[in-house]
Amino acid sequence: MWLSRPGRPSVITPMTLQLAGFTVLMLLQTCSAYKLVCYFTSWSQYREGDGSCFPDSIDPILCTHIIYSFANISNNKIGTWEWNDVSLYGTLNALKARNHNLKTLLSVGGWKFGAERFSRIVSNTKSRKTFIESVAPFLRTFGFDGLDLAWLYPEPRDKPYLSTLIKELKEEFTKEVLQPGTEKLLLSAAVSAGKVKLDSGYDIAQIAQHLDFINLMTYDFHGDWRKTAGHHSPLFRGTEEATSDRFNNVQYAVGYMLKLGAPASKLVMGIPTFGKTFTLATSENQVGAPISGKGLPGRFTKEEGTLAYYEICDFLKGAEVRRIDSQKVPYATRGNQWVGYDDVESVKNKVRYLKEASLAGAMVWALDLDDFQGHCKQNGRFPLTNAIKNALNAA
Ligand SMILES: *[C@@H]1O[C@H](CO)[C@@H](O)[C@H](O)[C@H]1NC(C)=O
Repeated sequence: MWLSRPGRPSVITPMTLQLAGFTVLMLLQTCSAYKLVCYFTSWSQYREGDGSCFPDSIDPILCTHIIYSFANISNNKIGTWEWNDVSLYGTLNALKARNHNLKTLLSVGGWKFGAERFSRIVSNTKSRKTFIESVAPFLRTFGFDGLDLAWLYPEPRDKPYLSTLIKELKEEFTKEVLQPGTEKLLLSAAVSAGKVKLDSGYDIAQIAQHLDFINLMTYDFHGDWRKTAGHHSPLFRGTEEATSDRFNNVQYAVGYMLKLGAPASKLVMGIPTFGKTFTLATSENQVGAPISGKGLPGRFTKEEGTLAYYEICDFLKGAEVRRIDSQKVPYATRGNQWVGYDDVESVKNKVRYLKEASLAGAMVWALDLDDFQGHCKQNGRFPLTNAIKNALNAA
């Protein structure tokens, strides 16, 4: 018996066993506590019919962190974006009543915000101070646990200002005077996984010091600008001509971040619940086939070149599905449409990879693009995010 010493009578009461079991559970929770950071986008509420997603559709025990996208900056102060943000903030943060470990963050910026505006606010000492001072009161008012920065993307001239912004935000969060029992606000950033943008816009070693975690956007590696069909979030470098460059894959981006000085313990690897689509130019439909442009918009997401996972499962009916062996991801073709996407198998491979690299966890873009309704009638609701969660928690 491992609890008793030789020669002594063992005193293992049910209580001791219970305590031992409890300790093991605690250890499991603290040692293997991978983060599962899930983005929710406020504009998903406007999708038609079954595509419309509100925060109350989110399973409260699915993710460890949910990030609400996006907040605006107005008069140099953080503020709402949508007319009903305050109501949605409330719905989102109410999920914490059903999962006391859940953390929520508010993401500021995004594509529509404009990198130039970020640059103007942050490069000026006075407006930067105004912004920084506005954050904690806003987050506290609406019950968020932290801020996520989505500056897409800092230019070379912005590099020092991004570092300063992050350092000063962290200082502000540290000195924010709180009642006992209140935790310090979290600070994360969404960071490009493209080598060129990483090199030009970010001082990774600097910002990593002050961020609680980094959400690496390991997707959108391949787009219509490449003029050929290819997967946008391959785990590994491809062997086909069109996808064989060294940089545009998850493995390279993760390795490069570590090399630049991001600690593995703060690095959260992005996994998309959306696919990137192309319209084929000829009857060829393999990886590297010529394309004429982006794929047709989805019935719900209505954006050329992108499909939500719940739209992809419809697309798959009557499609030809293949796996790219070297890159560990699937693609499907139907007529002249080509989609590179992630499925339960590919996300499991990605999670295995991030665990081997001892990363902090996985990030999902986005909850509202996963099959949040269970519409695919396969693997229930949130099939991809659940597969990621299960793979993270598996021994
Ligand atoms: C965000 O703030 C700017 C500056 O005040 C404003 O011009 C813009 O309309 C705001 N955007 C939204 C979506 O409210």
